[in-house]
Amino acid sequence: MSDPKKLFIKTYGCQMNVYDSERMAEALGGKGYVQTDTADGADMILLNTCHIREKAAEKVYSDLGRLKPLKDLNPNLKIGVTGCVAQAEGQEIMRRSPLVDLVVGPQSYHRLPAMDDAIQTGAKALDTDFPEDDKFDTLKSRSKAKRGPTAFLTVQEGCDKFCAFCVVPYTRGAEVSRPADRVVREAQELVESGVREITLLGQNVNAYHGHEDGLAGLIWALNEVDGLERIRFTTSHPNDMDDALIEAHGSCSKLMPYLHLPVQSGSDKILKAMNRKHTAESYLKVIARIRDARPDILLSGDFIVGFPGETEADFEATLDLIRAVEYGQAYSFKYSTRPGTPAAEKPQLPDDVMDERLQRLQALLTEQQRDIQRSMVGREVDVLFEKKGRTEGQMIGKSQYLHATYADAPMDVLGQVRRVRITQSGTNSLGGELL
Ligand code: 5AD
Ligand code: SF4
Repeated sequence: MSDPKKLFIKTYGCQMNVYDSERMAEALGGKGYVQTDTADGADMILLNTCHIREKAAEKVYSDLGRLKPLKDLNPNLKIGVTGCVAQAEGQEIMRRSPLVDLVVGPQSYHRLPAMDDAIQTGAKALDTDFPEDDKFDTLKSRSKAKRGPTAFLTVQEGCDKFCAFCVVPYTRGAEVSRPADRVVREAQELVESGVREITLLGQNVNAYHGHEDGLAGLIWALNEVDGLERIRFTTSHPNDMDDALIEAHGSCSKLMPYLHLPVQSGSDKILKAMNRKHTAESYLKVIARIRDARPDILLSGDFIVGFPGETEADFEATLDLIRAVEYGQAYSFKYSTRPGTPAAEKPQLPDDVMDERLQRLQALLTEQQRDIQRSMVGREVDVLFEKKGRTEGQMIGKSQYLHATYADAPMDVLGQVRRVRITQSGTNSLGGELL
């Protein structure tokens, strides 16, 4: 038998790309490819890309440039671009970068094995369709190989919301949900491979409609899967936090007390210009209802500073909203113009104004995160241990609130949920004692 071919995948961007990379590796596994963790010596390199902000998209071209010496060394090396830049820029990638043999969008990667056949003959292959056939029907079951205790599982893709700044409705297409019974089957397969915690993924995951009772219905169905101990989901839109989902946060034992609920801005004028279809007040009302259902829930958000037309007063309204919510985790970005989106037509704010606002926003968010982390000291939390820590005898995992938490513990805690008393709060993690 010939040696297995080596596949190196570099993943950019969001968790859905992490999931997609796993599925691409599994699809190519059927053709004799084995994944490696270095580009050197690989037979195929895939860059699974992100288009959400300009920086992420441009990085792909500089990374491609750096692969040239590898192709010079091994003319049989195949290079592919997958993910959202592939979807958005397709042919343009082939034109700008002659090294590239293959371009495939996020909805077509089940066709990778056939595309591999084509490129092995020296041809180029490009597929950025939104095909009729569902990639998940072709990909079928997950690999049985033993894996770590946490996994992502895509249940919904695409977005129909059309926020004025966002490329997702164009790169990932219209909202599509996977049927609940197939999601449950995949969850069972993951549990058989050692998974204890599943994060359900979707660009608009709480608009999931693959179960008659929406995402809450799916979560309750997964609550019945033996051996699965924790369920999370991301990313949600405030307008799709329905009663059943809020209620599940209060009553579903496997659903973790953590919610990522992006708001983007606290100014109603900017929210309207962003086409977010909610106000600061309606967002705060949703938050209040979630906290009624689950008082200890840890909240996370996404923020954009410097959206076209944002004044100092608009920006301060965002700071006010942040003060009102108190976030335990947050992601914040300078507005980035994306070609083809409605906001790209509007006059942009100067970069130094955006920089200064981002700094102030991040200072406030960091302070809130630290305060919440510090408030954990003295409390007992449940940690799902995932790997060895940096020092001898130390193990690391995540608490129910998604805080990275370390403790001295024997190796056999790996994959187990164990009680830990928090004794210290560091910059990005908590330390504690195993109970
Ligand atoms: N500029 C800056 N940030 C953006 N996001 C999406 N599009 C843009 C853009 N054009 C951010 C939003 C979203 C997160 C995934 O990325 O905050 O919630
Ligand atoms: Fe983009 Fe808005 Fe859809 Fe989120 S809800 S993916 S920000 S368009």
